[in-house]
Amino acid sequence: MKVEWQEYLSVGVEEIDRQHKLLIEKYNAFFTAYSEGRATEEVIRLLGFLEEYVMLHFADEERLQQRIGFPDYQKHRQQHQELARRVAELKERLESQGTDPGLVASTGLLLTGWLIEHISVMDRAIGRFVREVKDRGNQ
Ligand SMILES: [Fe+2]
Repeated sequence: MKVEWQEYLSVGVEEIDRQHKLLIEKYNAFFTAYSEGRATEEVIRLLGFLEEYVMLHFADEERLQQRIGFPDYQKHRQQHQELARRVAELKERLESQGTDPGLVASTGLLLTGWLIEHISVMDRAIGRFVREVKDRGNQ
């Protein structure tokens, strides 16, 4: 199923929202490829993208959390490290065994969990905190 970025997912910082939208776009492209029977080719492109994306995106997001004094920073960082580790594992699997339906399924599951559990739960909490900090500043 394709995913649409919604305003409630906003973390209140344009650059981070832009990066999340890009991930959703890649997820949707992967989903389209899957429904058209091109997933084994697309998974190569997707894992190449994710390898770079996790480094840049997680670093940007962690910097933001530190800047605003986000209380769950450590827990959040741990989840980033876990996601990055899983991306690296899939990339290694691709390099050693090539692409196959098992790799496609594992990559799809990783991304779905990432969007559902990480972005819509963990990252949304950053958004709430950013708004709190802004409200406090306005009082
Ligand atoms: Fe995050």
